Amino acid sequence: MSRNFLTLLDRTPSELINLIEEAIKLKKKRSKSIFTTPLRDKSIAMIFEKSSTRTRISFEVGIKELGAYPLFLSSADIQIKRGESISDTAKVLSRYVDMIMIRTSEHAKIIDLVENSTIPVINGLTDDYHPCQILADIMTIYEKLGKIKGVKVAFIGDGNNVANSWMNGAAQLGMKLSIASPKEYTVNQDIYKKAVEIAKQNDGEILLTTDPYKAVKDADIIYTDVWASMGMESEQAKRVNDFKGFIVDSKLMKSTGRETYFMHCLPAHRGEEVTADVIDGKNSIVFDEAENRLHIQKAIMLDCFEV
Ligand code: CP
Ligand code: NVA
Repeated sequence: MSRNFLTLLDRTPSELINLIEEAIKLKKKRSKSIFTTPLRDKSIAMIFEKSSTRTRISFEVGIKELGAYPLFLSSADIQIKRGESISDTAKVLSRYVDMIMIRTSEHAKIIDLVENSTIPVINGLTDDYHPCQILADIMTIYEKLGKIKGVKVAFIGDGNNVANSWMNGAAQLGMKLSIASPKEYTVNQDIYKKAVEIAKQNDGEILLTTDPYKAVKDADIIYTDVWASMGMESEQAKRVNDFKGFIVDSKLMKSTGRETYFMHCLPAHRGEEVTADVIDGKNSIVFDEAENRLHIQKAIMLDCFEV
């Protein structure tokens, strides 16, 4: 079986730490314009069924920097759009390229892709998970705070793909995560229950609440994401109403009782889930997170090739 990267549960805690250490080394080398090209005989397909700025560009540049050839495949331009199955697409791509990165909707689609591919598959976001993002975020936290274990992250907002991957990451790496969402927008309960079990083994903690002020007590990081994810555009107006009280503003930032960084996977909607003064303020590290996508994904790709 190929070495895939579909969720943060696909690696052991120490393997996740190794990926972060490797990404930091790659980042240092890049800052000195030192590039090795271990993937120079490889081609990597990137399938996008949803829009992207960061994922597309950071993967494409990362693939090029590792010496491989990136193929950007918008699902609108390949036969998937006209009904060709994921399984046939997987079998065909396995004959041409060496790895697939995919951004898609239902997580079942990426499982179908994996089951029908003979090459590694990386998850560039599904409706349920966004593992590359959260590993880049944890790398960013490590750079800023010098530690991971015991760090408290408060996630304020929708119990979406980013929140789900946060539960996986915090559980694996012994972090304290509290998630505040309106009751009807809480996280997936199966993912939550599993994360609680894993967290117990690693001295982590996962708490769910409907009170943002309770969630952020003692938080080192306040994290948020859009209220309506890609594919939920028709719910936008209803969600703006339902999430009233969940905006990350300076009052919430100050209420932690300590110095707190602000994080967001981006793209952001200023004035909805976060105020402009917070996301553009001195404690915001959103562009460090965005940069670290490049470095962590290079480490993930090397790991999937076992280079
Ligand atoms: N954070 C993130 O994945 O951004 P894109 O949707 O622009 O790829
Ligand atoms: N939750 C967001 C993340 C975007 C990077 C979405 O799925 O649209």
